[in-house]
Amino acid sequence: MIAELKNHSIALHYLSVLRDERTDISDFRKATIVLTQALVLEASRQLELSAESIKTPLEKIEGQKIKGKLVFVPILRAGLGMLDAALDILPNAAVGYIGLERDEQTAIAHCYYSKMPNLSDVQKVFLLDPMLATGGSASQSIVKLKELGAKNVSMVSIVAAPEGLQHLQELHPDVDIFTASIDRELDVNRYILPGLGDFGDRLFGTN
Ligand code: PRP
Ligand code: URA
Repeated sequence: MIAELKNHSIALHYLSVLRDERTDISDFRKATIVLTQALVLEASRQLELSAESIKTPLEKIEGQKIKGKLVFVPILRAGLGMLDAALDILPNAAVGYIGLERDEQTAIAHCYYSKMPNLSDVQKVFLLDPMLATGGSASQSIVKLKELGAKNVSMVSIVAAPEGLQHLQELHPDVDIFTASIDRELDVNRYILPGLGDFGDRLFGTN
């Protein structure tokens, strides 16, 4: 399943902030936070709940709390910009890290770091990466998460290319994808068009 934050004024506003080449680093970070929170709320819509008896100041009711464990996995580097925003929504989640970097010529990502909590007894793993371009980084990460026992993975990405979405759906049809925008296409260097350029560079001030 692919879910896009369509026709939402806040999402459209902050996406334009991210895309605008004049946006400075602090506004870029702020827009990343807002869009991540909107996406994590969407991606959490179907989480399993368990009934819990609670007492309001006035009476006892049957409340509902999120069941079991959750894990966020940001793909380094750019996914780090989404992590704190995601933890603001679900502060009890554990965090795993996976470091991947695309080769500039081939766009094939290589893994340079990985550290994961136990994934076998987790209700859901949210994979965080703002850019889904060819889908290579996401699909490599999902293979690793599944090898480590993850049974329910959702991909949370701010901008996605149709090529990457198709690639991910072919390889991992069980993974739901949440994105703020499905953009037009990849360019010859496998950058997303219209996109927003290199997310990691804009988030961290490198180039
Ligand atoms: C970018 C981006 C994704 C990846 C997407 O990372 O943050 O991880 O490219 O491309 P793909 O779908 O074609 O794999 P990059 O390799 O530039 O590393 P960085 O986050 O450290 O800047
Ligand atoms: N990674 C980015 O940061 N931007 C793109 O457009 C593609 C991959």
